Amino acid sequence: MDIGIQQLKLSHILWICLIGIFAIRALYRRWKHRKIYAFMASLPGPISLPFIGGDYILIGISRTNLCGKMKTLTKWYPDGVSGMWERNEPHVLTSSREVLNAVLSSSENIDKFYHYDHFQIVANSMITASGTEWRTIRNIVNPGFRSNILSLFDDNFTYHTRAFVDRLEKYENSDEFDIFVPVHLCTIDLISDNMVQARIGVQENDPTGRMSLAMTELFEMMFERAFSPLLWPDFIYKLLGKQKIIDQLISEHYNFVQRMLEVHIKKKQELREENRHAGNPQIYINILLDKVDKGVLTKDRVIAEVNETLMAGSYTSGTIVAWVFKLLGMFPDIQERAYQELKESCVGDRVELDDLPKLVQIEMIIKETLRHFGVPFTGRHIIKDVEINGKLTIPAGIQMFLNIYGLHHDPEYWEKPGEFYPEHFSPLKEKSRPRGAFIPFLGGPRVCPGSRYAMRSMKLMIASTLLRYKFSTDEKPPEDLRDMDYRYIVLLHPAAGFRVKIERR
Ligand code: HEM
Repeated sequence: MDIGIQQLKLSHILWICLIGIFAIRALYRRWKHRKIYAFMASLPGPISLPFIGGDYILIGISRTNLCGKMKTLTKWYPDGVSGMWERNEPHVLTSSREVLNAVLSSSENIDKFYHYDHFQIVANSMITASGTEWRTIRNIVNPGFRSNILSLFDDNFTYHTRAFVDRLEKYENSDEFDIFVPVHLCTIDLISDNMVQARIGVQENDPTGRMSLAMTELFEMMFERAFSPLLWPDFIYKLLGKQKIIDQLISEHYNFVQRMLEVHIKKKQELREENRHAGNPQIYINILLDKVDKGVLTKDRVIAEVNETLMAGSYTSGTIVAWVFKLLGMFPDIQERAYQELKESCVGDRVELDDLPKLVQIEMIIKETLRHFGVPFTGRHIIKDVEINGKLTIPAGIQMFLNIYGLHHDPEYWEKPGEFYPEHFSPLKEKSRPRGAFIPFLGGPRVCPGSRYAMRSMKLMIASTLLRYKFSTDEKPPEDLRDMDYRYIVLLHPAAGFRVKIERR
């Protein structure tokens, strides 16, 4: 009996000690991060529950309805700033123009928020790198993205775009088809030839579109994991066989980049043998290979960099061009206006690069497409306090969820937020809109370095295709485009695909 009482007391003492340790740890954490706790308590947001924080608001949110849910969240918090604990991590969600731009333009807060860990492929590269490592690589490659380099790509832009328009011939007057893969193969060809100076010709040599399908599959898997906490532990991911598929897809990508490099090096040797200039030192690939020669970068690092630039550059611009074709089919009046301007601006049956500045309607359409379907969200880890207009200070330690989609649909800046209304970007309206209300390429130190390249290549592809073909689709747009179903993969893809019909003009 005495022993029983002694055992009971011992287990009581153990429990009390355990609870005491937890309580002291929790109190110490609260004291150490008191500034963050006070700040979070000052923000509106869902009530935080033990262990799960505000995660319960994510129930029912998927990759298809995320934007719709964000619309509700933004409505809940009219100032466009709210706080939410995601387990132990303090998150601030914002779609406020002032807050977004203050965070993005900060030269210290350049690290991505921790959700980006799911997008780390194998080796680090510029897109996922942080701190000094990011600064070093960004400084190295910046000259390769300068606007004076763009004119060197003119012949390649024209060559691959004409090949794209010609290859669409096989779809003329047929049933609806998904235009994404043909568009994406063209943007892959453009990046290979321009940035890596390697003419691989996937439009011609990859009839099944394997490279495009492999990239979509890789992105799909990365975004699936990011949205499924059950898939976060590595051992579960491996157990389900998903890691093996990811590894195969990555090795397919790396083999492709390796092939690009081999083609590039062979071409350089041929030029040298003919005593011809072997390459402009300001071209992206030449900058990187020069750093390998000097021992600053490894060859593996160059492969990782080229792979991510290929993915970031071809997938984004391919998605926007495919959206424009689908939207032209959905909105025949807008298509007709753009076509009339195009016909008046171009001599003959081809679009020349010099014609592009005259194509105001197409530029407005591209921007309106970026507003609706561009990169919807990103995030930063705040490591140094950010002060916003003397009204709000975001303390170090916060994970910022930057809701670009919310800003791009904020009725304060957009007359018809849910409509496809290219007039939002008429020269007059653009002039009267405050700076930083439209940021499809973000801003500040981590601004997309490929924005000028992207605008030039997209405009040429769209104008050249529209001059030859008329687009239509059986799909009717909803009254409010925010009510469409999407697949969130880097940008927003329509759940029903990029289905269109084309007819020769
Ligand atoms: C419509 C086309 C494009 C869109 C909408 C777009 C958008 C973006 C955005 C929003 C970011 C910042 C992501 C973040 O910090 O969270 C970014 C970064 C980046 N983009 Fe683009 N991009 C486009 C085209 C391109 C092209 C054509 C290239 C290359 C030729 C490119 C290369 C990159 C790179 C390398 C980064 C990483 C920059 C860094 O972290 O310092 N992008 N892009």
